[in-house]
Amino acid sequence: DVVTMDKIVALCKRRGFIFASSEIYGGLGSTYDYGHYGVLLKTNVKNEWWRAMLQERDDIVALDSAILQHPDVWKASGHLAGFTDPMVDCRTCKARFRADHIAERQPGIVCPKKPSKLPGEGPDCDLTEARDFNLMFKTNVGPVESTSSVAYLRPETAQGIFINFKNVMSFARKKPPFGIAQVGKSFRNEITPGNFIFRTREFEQMEMEFFVPPSEAPHWYETWKQERFDWYTRLGIRPAGLRLREHDADELSHYSSGTADVEYLFPIGWSELEGIANRGDFDLSAHAAESRTKLEYFDPGSGERYVPHVIEPAAGADRATLAFLVDAYDEEQVDGELRTVLKLHPRLAPVKVAVLPLVKKDGQPEVAKEIVQALRGLMQTEYDEGGAIGKRYRRQDEIGTPWCVTVDHETLTERTVTLRDRDSMTQERVAIDALPALLAGKLAA
Ligand code: GAP
Repeated sequence: DVVTMDKIVALCKRRGFIFASSEIYGGLGSTYDYGHYGVLLKTNVKNEWWRAMLQERDDIVALDSAILQHPDVWKASGHLAGFTDPMVDCRTCKARFRADHIAERQPGIVCPKKPSKLPGEGPDCDLTEARDFNLMFKTNVGPVESTSSVAYLRPETAQGIFINFKNVMSFARKKPPFGIAQVGKSFRNEITPGNFIFRTREFEQMEMEFFVPPSEAPHWYETWKQERFDWYTRLGIRPAGLRLREHDADELSHYSSGTADVEYLFPIGWSELEGIANRGDFDLSAHAAESRTKLEYFDPGSGERYVPHVIEPAAGADRATLAFLVDAYDEEQVDGELRTVLKLHPRLAPVKVAVLPLVKKDGQPEVAKEIVQALRGLMQTEYDEGGAIGKRYRRQDEIGTPWCVTVDHETLTERTVTLRDRDSMTQERVAIDALPALLAGKLAA
């Protein structure tokens, strides 16, 4: 396969999708800044998620809860006690490793601080026993740093949903089965972040908690696994690079009676893209006990009272963005030259259409700008008049623009343009007046 993580990183930098953060200060490990095309792409990913959750159904409502929450939230959720990774340190070089990563790297790790004759060879690190390291970022609320002012940056968006269950129930006029969806930043002090935006310490999640009558939980668990798998393939991920993997009993989290991962074949191998979990009544019951608030559903019709069970599809916006980039990346030989192209689904593509005058004279730029004006507001449109037309096509190919409209000498007399398709590179002649409806139709298809 042509795609490696290095090529994705290079394209993202070259074309202004994603940059290493704090670059002029030498960077801060595993943090990234999204540039123009990166923002457009990730926004489209999130919008497609919202579309699937809100527009295409009527049993889910939206929420945007705070990143800073009462510390007791994390006590009830189990994060204070249990959101840890086992970690070991080297007594000599002070390097820090995840214990399970050490196990994978047997027989040992070469210690850079111990004397050795050959680079990469030498005595192993002198490792401590494993100890638990809590992944939550701690901060203080207000000017006083004391134990009573401690707060945490949320390590997942899910808890913000559970603690608002009562609020949402009281206004949304929904009864189980119904869901609450949220997109937002989460923070985890990962011991070993890496692989570009696959695992970072600051990232965006797209999570939905679906509250159901307990007896319906198995049905909804199956439904959401399929729904979420299909969402990726509908947006262009090749089914051969996607699979659902059910967790073994020893992998299950303390709250889960069933979890499956949607896995994608990243350049680093099959890895988790999204998790779908059957969380039972764990969360609502835990928050009800901790906050002494009733978190249950009362059915006025039947007089029945119960704590809904929760099915949770939990996805990552950055990780999904990476999967879409990897899957879309292609290199082709065209007329003896290498063409790099992002075959992104048109709805995900940062720019939908580029309007290009063939030459920068003869009234062509003016007509091209008129076309841009007609398309603006309808879809993300870009105008580009600089350089050879072939070069401009290649640039649009690399950022994944599905359509290029070229204004040429015929345009001025015929009121027609050429419409170039990114993937087939074929061109057809189209009337200017027909363009907006034609492109809007292709985008909606
Ligand atoms: N509420 C459940 C939950 O948070 P998770 O499996 O820990 O479950 C869900 O996270 C998704 O969030 C993951 O499948 C992944 O896409 C994304 N994610 C988690 N940690 C991440 C990290 N450090 N960097 C980027 N994405 C991450």
